[in-house]
Amino acid sequence: MPGEPTWLCLLTKLRLENPCRHRFAHDPPEFLDRIPLAQERLASGGGRSISQEAILSKLTDLHAQIAACQKCALAQGRDRAVPGEGPEDAQIMFIGEAPGYHENRLGRPFVGAAGKFLDKLLASIDMQRDDVYICNVIKCRPPNNRDPLPNEVRACQPYLDQQVELIKPRLIITLGRHSMSQYFPKATISKIHGVPKNLGDVIVLPFFHPAAALHQPKYRADIERDFLKIPRILAQASGLEGTPPDQRAEQLSLF
Ligand code: URA
Repeated sequence: MPGEPTWLCLLTKLRLENPCRHRFAHDPPEFLDRIPLAQERLASGGGRSISQEAILSKLTDLHAQIAACQKCALAQGRDRAVPGEGPEDAQIMFIGEAPGYHENRLGRPFVGAAGKFLDKLLASIDMQRDDVYICNVIKCRPPNNRDPLPNEVRACQPYLDQQVELIKPRLIITLGRHSMSQYFPKATISKIHGVPKNLGDVIVLPFFHPAAALHQPKYRADIERDFLKIPRILAQASGLEGTPPDQRAEQLSLF
């Protein structure tokens, strides 16, 4: 695919060669040798990747638990909980704040105005929703879209932790300050947005929330610019640019 960035070739190749998403009925393609995440998964599950099926099954169970959750008072006011959606082996996980009006009605994350903007931002880097996993810090809509309360965040924390643990994304992109503070509780979003931080087995990249960016031109320009950094950061994270591992942290750990 001449002219396309390496990371996009990779995603397209994975989609074309493996309609079942990275599950191999045959010997895995040679290019996967360069992708640490894929290597780990193949090593743990063999060519057919049985463990990938186990991950999908655990994630499906987790989504069912979230859908039935009664751990805090938000359960009483909701139409539907919003567990999250996307491939179980997504390399990128977006974490928003909480479901809003439309998400509460449909049980799906980012389906309102902010979601449409998120789709456009993904399209700006030739990606689609299906390429990424999207979820929220809390899984039920707070009344009148107020900020999540500490006890609500605590009640939902095990769900988010399990989502990260099962999906093992290479890159987590936090959307807004509530999501950012999962990883950087003392940071200020206007200072650290768009700056990747290498946390060992995952890179976390904080962004402004698309809903804020929709209405405030300054944030909009920032989030549009920040999105354009994703391909390079993902490619670096996957070692596709031939960066030796001991230099990767140096390139990525910028704040
Ligand atoms: N805002 C969020 O943070 N999450 C959604 O799912 C929708 C809007």
